[in-house]
Parts: sequence; structure tokens; C-alpha cells
Amino acid sequence: MLGPDEPASRDADAGAAAAGAWADGFGVVAPDVVRYADVLRSVPDPVLLAMRNLADTESVELLDPDAATLIALLARSHRPRQVLEVGTGIGYLTLHLARAVPGDCVLTSIDPDPMRQAQAHAFLERDELTRCATELRLGDPVRVLREGAAHASWDMVVLGSSNVQRLDLLDIVAPRMSPDALLVVPWALRGGRVANSEAAWSGDELVEQQRLLNRYIATDPRFADVVLLPVGDGVLLARRV
Ligand SMILES: C[S@@+](CC[C@H](N)C(=O)[O-])C[C@H]1O[C@@H](n2cnc3c(N)ncnc32)[C@H](O)[C@@H]1O
Repeated sequence: MLGPDEPASRDADAGAAAAGAWADGFGVVAPDVVRYADVLRSVPDPVLLAMRNLADTESVELLDPDAATLIALLARSHRPRQVLEVGTGIGYLTLHLARAVPGDCVLTSIDPDPMRQAQAHAFLERDELTRCATELRLGDPVRVLREGAAHASWDMVVLGSSNVQRLDLLDIVAPRMSPDALLVVPWALRGGRVANSEAAWSGDELVEQQRLLNRYIATDPRFADVVLLPVGDGVLLARRV
């Protein structure tokens, strides 16, 4: 607590230092909150554990478990018939989604990396809780979507890859989203760096691209009810109008 004569900037400095300290490895949530949430979180089952082990061994970027659970909960209550995920990775979120959506849902997930896709395929194959058909598509998502999704009507879209094409992807996908479809953008805060001094150049291309995407969605008349949740590394949600 600051005394009455102490400069208020000390508080701001302390906040900035704390934000910096969280930036690597803790997402945007304070470490003590993360530890507390760890105690409350459901114990991961063997398939999810195997995925996390593989991610640790091969240094694969994996979605935060709380963010994955939240997105799966949203999918479960939204009951989509067609779901698109961009950026399958080893299939961590794909698996959460495949367990959550109704059995008649088609879940399409795209990734340009054949090795990661093979790993995702193997995990999905061995999972006994998966309820829906899963189509893993290999290739550049812009090309895959331009060539093969003309008649799609997505009820839920997850832009989960960390790349610079997501504005293009959004423009391809938005016209093919059904009314009230849910748009989900994980990693929306990138360790808090997206929100730190938003006006200044961060020096990090991914952070800048993320700022651009967040602002693009927030000001796009095709989307409403935009909300940024500080879960994991930030999850941006929006509803297709
Ligand atoms: C952060 S991982 C996805 C994580 C995953 N959804 C999960 O549940 O943890 C990012 C993935 O994006 C993929 N990727 C790389 N470039 C891409 C691109 N241009 N478009 C889409 N995905 C891309 C990578 O191959 C990688 O598998």
C-alpha cells in the first residue's frame, strides 16, 4: 500500500514488473491464481496426459488446459453441427472439441504440418470419448478453405494457429459462418504483451498481428458480443451477427 506522499507510479511500476514476470510461461493469470486453479482442475485422463507429455518432450506449443476446457464447454452448450479449427497441432483442442460436440457434428481441423497432423490423428484414433466425425485436413488453411469449403456453414470457428494469415482466414471464413456462430481466438493476449502499451510497437511480429486481429474482430460489423477473457493466454470470443 502506498503512503499519501509516495508517488502513484510505484504501483504502476510494480504492476508492469509483475506483468513482465508473468509474460513467460504463466499466460496472463497471476501465478498464485494459476496454482490455486491447478488444485481445482479436473485430473487429466491418460490421452490428455500423453499429449501434454509429448508436447513437453518435443517443445510443442499447447493450449492452456483451462482455455481448452472453456472452449470445449462452450462447444458443448452451443451444440454446433459444423466446427472449423485452424491450427490442429497435435490435436489437443481438437480432442476436447471432438468429445464435446454432438455426434452428428463434423469437426474439420487444418494444419500445414504433416508430422503434427499424424500425431493428432493417432491421439484421436485411440481416444474412446470422441463423439463426432473428425476431418483432419493437411495444407495451407487459406488454400484448403478456398478450394474445399465453398458450401460450409460453420457454427463454430477456432482460429488457433499462431501465424500472420488470420485476417485473410477470417475474411474467407466469416461469410461461411451461420447466424450466431461462435468465433474463438485463443492466445489473444500473448503473455499480456498484446495489452501492454497498446499504442507502442512491441518489437514482436506475433504480438502486433494479434493486436491487429483483435481490433479487426472488435470493429468488424459482422461480429458482435466481443469479449476478451483472461483465461490461459487470453481467449477472444465473438458472435457472428
Ligand atoms: C499453437 S499450435 C496449435 C495448438 C493446438 N490447437 C492446441 O490445441 O494446442 C499452432 C499450429 O499452427 C500450425 N501452423 C503453422 N503455420 C500455420 C498456418 N499458416 N496456418 C495454420 N496453421 C499453421 C502449426 O503447424 C502448429 O501445429
